[in-house]
Amino acid sequence: MYALARPLLFRLDAEKAHELVFASVAGLGPVARLGMRLTLPMPDPRLAVTVAGLRWPTPVGLAAGLDKDGRLVRFWPELGFGAVELGTVTALAQPGNPRPRLFRVPDAGALINRMGFNNAGSQALATRLRALRDAGAWPEVPIGVNLGKSKVTELDDAVQDYATSAQRLAELADYLVVNVSSPNTPGLRTLQDADRLAAIVRAVVGAASGRPVFVKLAPDLGEPALDDAVAVSAAEGAAGFIATNTTIDHQGLAEVGAGGLSGRPLFSRALEVVRHVAARTDLPVIGVGGVHGADQVLEMLAAGAAAVQIYTALIYEGPTLVGRILGELSRALDESGAPDLPTLVASSR
Ligand SMILES: Cc1cc2nc3c(=O)[nH]c(=O)nc-3n(C[C@H](O)[C@H](O)[C@H](O)COP(=O)(O)O)c2cc1C
Repeated sequence: MYALARPLLFRLDAEKAHELVFASVAGLGPVARLGMRLTLPMPDPRLAVTVAGLRWPTPVGLAAGLDKDGRLVRFWPELGFGAVELGTVTALAQPGNPRPRLFRVPDAGALINRMGFNNAGSQALATRLRALRDAGAWPEVPIGVNLGKSKVTELDDAVQDYATSAQRLAELADYLVVNVSSPNTPGLRTLQDADRLAAIVRAVVGAASGRPVFVKLAPDLGEPALDDAVAVSAAEGAAGFIATNTTIDHQGLAEVGAGGLSGRPLFSRALEVVRHVAARTDLPVIGVGGVHGADQVLEMLAAGAAAVQIYTALIYEGPTLVGRILGELSRALDESGAPDLPTLVASSR
C-alpha cells in the first residue's frame, strides 16, 4: 500500500505530505485500525525489554517530533511500537519556524528539518492525555513526553519553562525527556553545558512525581562535553539518556540552509554516542538515529542501548516497517535458540 502511496506523497512538499497522512490516519475508523493491527506479527514476548523500570513490549519506540501534540497516541502501538514519545512540547504554544522547514534527501534516506518546536503547548497536551486516561483509553505501551524550551523564553529563564511543562505533564506521562539537543531553537544546545543542564534536570526530576526523566543528547557534542552532560544528569537524578538528536553536520548531502539531519547518514555517529555513553553509566540509553532495520536494532543493543527509537525510516519505509523489524528479530531468536534479545546480543559479541 505505502509503496503505491509513497511516490505521490513524495511529490508533495514534505510537511504537507506529513499532514495529509496524519489527517488520513486520524480519520480511519476502528475497523481500519484493527486491519492495521492484523498485519502485525503475533506479539512476541521474547522481544520485550525493560527501560528504567518500564516494560516496552517491543524494543522499538517512536522517536519524538512525529506526534508532538499527541494526536495519534492510540495508533502508534498498532504499528508495533513498544513505546511512544510525544513532544517536543514547550510551556507556551508556538508556531515554529517559517515554512519550508522540512526537506527530504531521498538518495541518502535522510531528512533535514528546522521545524523549531511547532506545538500547541504543554497544557494542550496535558488536556488531551487526561481525556485519554479518563476514558480508560491509555495504550498498553509507555507514553513519554519530551520537553523543550519556548522560543520566547530567555535562556536564563529556561529552568522555569521546563519545570512548568513537567508539572503539567508528570502525572499524565510514563516518562519525561529533557530535550536540550534540538538544533532549531536558538541557543538551546548551550543548555547542555554542565551548570545549566544540572539546574534543568534538577527542576524536572523535582516536578516529575517519581516518573523517570531521560536526557536527550546531541550527536555533535565532543566526548568531554558528553561526559560532563552524562555525569551531571546522573548526579541530579536522571533515569537514562536518549542518544541522539539530529546533527547539524549535513555531510554535504543537500543545500537547504540550517537544520538537523536525521536518517541513515546519522546512524554511525548515533551508534558511537550510544557506545560512549553506555560505557560511562549504568543508566539505560535509548539509541536513536538512522535505525531502519533489524540489523541496526541489534547493533544499537550490542553497543549498549536498552531499546531504540525510529522517526525518519518510518517516513521512507511506511507503516509496516516496525512489524517487519519485529518479525526479523523474532526469526533471529528462532535461529539462534536464544531466549530473549539481551541473550542474543550477548552471544553475538
Ligand atoms: C521532522 C523532525 C522533527 C523532529 N522533532 C523533534 C522534536 O520535536 N524533539 C526531539 O527531541 N527530537 C525531534 N526530532 C529528532 C528525532 O526524535 C530523532 O532523534 C532523530 O530524527 C534521529 O532519529 P531518526 O534518524 O530515526 O529520524 C525530529 C526529527 C525530525 C526528522
